[in-house]
Amino acid sequence: MNLDLKNKRAIVCGSTQGIGKAVAMQLAAMGAHVTLVARNEPALKQTKAELANNGHQLHSYLCVDFSDTNALKELLTSFIQRSGPVNILVNNTGGPPSGPIASAKTEEFLQAFNNHLICNHILTQACLEGMKNTGYGRVINIISTSVKQPLPNLGVSNTIRAAVANWAKTMANELGKFGITVNNVLPGATSTQRLANIIETKAAKNNLQNDVVKNEMLHEIPLGRFAEPSEIANAVAFLASPAAAYINGINLPVDGGRTGNL
Ligand SMILES: NC(=O)c1ccc[n+]([C@@H]2O[C@H](COP(=O)([O-])OP(=O)(O)OC[C@H]3O[C@@H](n4cnc5c(N)ncnc54)[C@H](OP(=O)(O)O)[C@@H]3O)[C@@H](O)[C@H]2O)c1
Repeated sequence: MNLDLKNKRAIVCGSTQGIGKAVAMQLAAMGAHVTLVARNEPALKQTKAELANNGHQLHSYLCVDFSDTNALKELLTSFIQRSGPVNILVNNTGGPPSGPIASAKTEEFLQAFNNHLICNHILTQACLEGMKNTGYGRVINIISTSVKQPLPNLGVSNTIRAAVANWAKTMANELGKFGITVNNVLPGATSTQRLANIIETKAAKNNLQNDVVKNEMLHEIPLGRFAEPSEIANAVAFLASPAAAYINGINLPVDGGRTGNL
């Protein structure tokens, strides 16, 4: 099985912590030149220093806030003109705040749509020509199992994830003929800052200890534990590899079996 990413160039968004950082580490370990994307420059520098470098890899980073789509577009376009084509794009960023849908504000939907769907689109468009020219394209979107089964108290997130999944499937249908695959990885509860925030918010709102909320969540997972970010990264890395060339347009839950449907 060919998992070699030597001479492949990857952009990994949301890669200063959590799932994105684990993905960047894994792709670099498999030989890719990795470009990190996030807002926090010291954390970007730190993560870049932690990436595997087998003596031939050129890693870099782009510091940008997804709230500013014009800045993202300009930065990406000039980066690609300067550095050459990108083969692997991992679309990922921070999730929308939790809360019931009935009280969600219009601005929350707009911001989530912007940071997830519009930014994915800008990034993908910027990478397309290079993927077509090199005959190797992998677009992998980190979404959520809510694509298959809405999660309680994540109203805005549930809504936007479905839009991203439909955008991705439509892209997969259009781009397959160029040797470009588009797939979604759907993490279940994964031990990151995002999960810690969700647990804390729910515990505070219901006047419970964090551990009570945590144990309720664990109870819903057949494997009885949260995922490590590296376990989500393994799935992403496989989809990015030559071995996954015939996998296209799928939603892959990596959730310890939590999602109830088939
Ligand atoms: N963890 C889970 O249990 C879980 C489960 C299902 C789905 N997910 C989803 O998977 C994705 C990643 O989750 P995670 O737990 O790894 O999240 P995380 O720990 O909050 O990390 C988010 C990453 O995105 C970057 N980021 C956030 N806002 C940004 C912005 N406006 N512009 C540019 N970069 C931004 C952050 O870096 P900077 O702060 O440096 O910008 C960070 O590197 C999220 O969409 C999340 O909702 C997570």
